[in-house]
Amino acid sequence: MSSAHKPWGGRFTESTDAFVEAFTASVDFDQRLAPYDIQGSIAHATMLERIGLLTPKDLEAIVKGLEKIRDEIERGDFHWAVQLEDVHMNIEARLTDRIGDAGKRLHTGRSRNDQVATDVRLYLRAEIDLIRSELVRLQTALIDLAEREADTILPGFTHLQVAQPITFGHHLLAWNEMLERDRERLADCRKRVNVMPLGAAALAGTSYPLDRELTAELLGFSRPSANSLDAVSDRDFAIEFAAAASLIMMHLSRFSEELILWTSAQFGFIDLPDKFCTGSSIMPQKKNPDVPELVRGKSGRVYGHLVGLLTLMKSQPLAYNKDNQEDKEPLFDTVDTLKHCLRAFADMMPHVAPRRAAMLESARKGYATATDLADYLVRKGVPFRDAHEIVGKAVRLGVESGRDLSEIALDELQQFSAHIADDVFEVLTLEGSVAARDIIGGTAPKRVREAAGKARKRLQAA
Ligand code: ARG
Repeated sequence: MSSAHKPWGGRFTESTDAFVEAFTASVDFDQRLAPYDIQGSIAHATMLERIGLLTPKDLEAIVKGLEKIRDEIERGDFHWAVQLEDVHMNIEARLTDRIGDAGKRLHTGRSRNDQVATDVRLYLRAEIDLIRSELVRLQTALIDLAEREADTILPGFTHLQVAQPITFGHHLLAWNEMLERDRERLADCRKRVNVMPLGAAALAGTSYPLDRELTAELLGFSRPSANSLDAVSDRDFAIEFAAAASLIMMHLSRFSEELILWTSAQFGFIDLPDKFCTGSSIMPQKKNPDVPELVRGKSGRVYGHLVGLLTLMKSQPLAYNKDNQEDKEPLFDTVDTLKHCLRAFADMMPHVAPRRAAMLESARKGYATATDLADYLVRKGVPFRDAHEIVGKAVRLGVESGRDLSEIALDELQQFSAHIADDVFEVLTLEGSVAARDIIGGTAPKRVREAAGKARKRLQAA
């Protein structure tokens, strides 16, 4: 297309180099913003009519024309022209084709700079809402499972060494806490996404008496932006979102790591359903936890997008620069990756099948109640440091003779401390150990049920 036919072609005498045209175009990827571009244009036109800058007839033609274009796009009948550079000019050109001069009036008091910033915000707001509901679905699955497994005992680890017995429900609720913070973070990020750039025009605002409050209200924005330079150039909201997304991916990656360990023969704590696993083309016995592995792997690209967006912005002078066109692909990929990973997890979580006997067996083997024995001695008046030493000796005997603490006879234990009596075996049981952690945030089954109930209420309140 010769520059004379481009919406900005007036001051050009030479047509755009074909490669440069393709190089500078964004339509291949920004066409995803089309529904939001149309929504924004309808609101802008409605406001223009309200303040007398469009006739009711023009407004009607614009709204109808844009709705038809929306249908064409949805049906896949819309022809996207790279010569028209981006989603905004493609839609505007098509509108003018359809309705003539009224279409040319739509861009009054507007620039693509405030238009694209508005579109991206509308898009991201909608996606944040979807992502938050996907988080609710995953959290619900975790809380359900936690309630069912409130009494299930497994070893808790520090340094990946058996530390103290915990309940599986408690472990799952730890995951839920991470996701709860993620959901909050997104709600907070949404507040700063939900500010309207329209009216900032190219960078300085506009000489038309636009009713920005009205446009903001029509689009569900909380307010118009306060500074036109900032409005067209700010992408903090996208970076914040990428940061929140990175944290979510980091959490999902940690969950993945645990699921992968737990499905291994060495742990054998859980089974993942066949439909979330794949086999090996050479080793017939294999059932691989591909879904968690992929989620763990995909965290890398989301962190990459965060750094990419930060770097994109770091040297830009005010106000809009074409650099900003590079915000879209990382943002879109962040949204897609995050949504897919959350969906995979939310679908998979209700089918995670705990192997309770293996969990219990593993907790039995690891001297997980050593702290309980020390606490027992403290209750009998032994200073904690001495108790620690005494229990260390008992554990050494256990290791040397291949027995758990609860399997060592009373008289053998008594050689380490005269304070040990036959009530010691109550504290050496795993059940006694977890039940004793009866404190806010503790692992006692009673507390886990209580915490699950609270977590569920918090989720429903949202
Ligand atoms: N495609 C552009 C972008 O994504 C739209 C804004 C273009 N504005 C301009 N002055 N060239 O940022």
